[in-house]
Amino acid sequence: MISNYFDNLFAAAKAVRQNAHAPYSKFHVGAAFLTEDNSIIVGCNVENAAYPQSQCAEASAIGNLVSQGFNNIIEVVVIGSGDILASPCGGCRQRLREFASLDTPIHMCNINGHLKTLTLAELLPDSFGPENL
Ligand code: THU
Repeated sequence: MISNYFDNLFAAAKAVRQNAHAPYSKFHVGAAFLTEDNSIIVGCNVENAAYPQSQCAEASAIGNLVSQGFNNIIEVVVIGSGDILASPCGGCRQRLREFASLDTPIHMCNINGHLKTLTLAELLPDSFGPENL
């Protein structure tokens, strides 16, 4: 399930994580997506003094994905803070559902490396997606 692109995705997520604006939680997150044409798109979390206005790293990366003219995600790396894996929050699982396939691997990592991989379907079973409309 770990592709040849994992190392590049991991490096990209780790680098963008350094740019996280997380003065409130101090929990820095970086996300990197692989697209169908092997581009790598990244994003970090962006917090706000009005806490609910904060944005997850995956949401930032999705904004960048679409802004750069892409609409597909074929592999995901997420790197959080601390020792345990960074698991995409429920809202971000649904955000990923819009652009990823059910079998898209999501690699959950800490800054030292890979910890666990699950598919989007495993993270978000019986999900609601574009084809439901
Ligand atoms: N966070 C993410 O960026 N992605 C997730 O999937 C989980 C949480 C961020 C949001 C907030 O800035 C910080 O981590 C702590 O919750």
